Amino acid sequence: MFTFRDYYQNEVSLSFSKHPFSNDPRHVWVICRYDNKWLLTKHRDRGLEFPGGKVEQGENAEEAAVREVMEETGGVIRDIHYIGQYHVAGKAGHVVKNVYYAEVEKLEEQETYYETEGPVLLEAIPRNVKFNPNYSFIMKDDVLKYCMEKLETTSN
Ligand code: GTP
Repeated sequence: MFTFRDYYQNEVSLSFSKHPFSNDPRHVWVICRYDNKWLLTKHRDRGLEFPGGKVEQGENAEEAAVREVMEETGGVIRDIHYIGQYHVAGKAGHVVKNVYYAEVEKLEEQETYYETEGPVLLEAIPRNVKFNPNYSFIMKDDVLKYCMEKLETTSN
């Protein structure tokens, strides 16, 4: 279990075990790869981030992950794996979010990308992401760092 503060100084706990905080998380976040690049979306208010959002009624977390990737990037997922789960103790309440890793096989152009401007492909996530105003606060805590490290160790 890792514990750290986020961009807003909220306490975040991250674990790679199976559903450590909730069996029924209400949020998902999906680290995506497409065409040997990272696939992000540009949220209109928050900036660049990996796609994700809230689990809707009648779907489970993995289904929400697949839907959010399609809605925010047009990405069709070939393969998706659970990485871990994190808990944010926010001022207004707690958030529990599942993190997935997904490989996308194609991008289908969408009429709307909802609150985002659609897909953004990057060769690399910049080292200065924590201080880069183009990036969303969601990319600015150690969830990203630990999940990327976890992905590196599991893919080797
Ligand atoms: P809406 O209900 O859609 O308006 O969104 P909201 O931002 O009010 O609520 P949400 O439940 O998505 O998030 C509530 C708060 O939890 C946010 O303002 C953040 O402080 C925090 N939060 C949500 N997701 C994340 C995340 O991925 N990382 C971190 N660090 N905090 C998050």
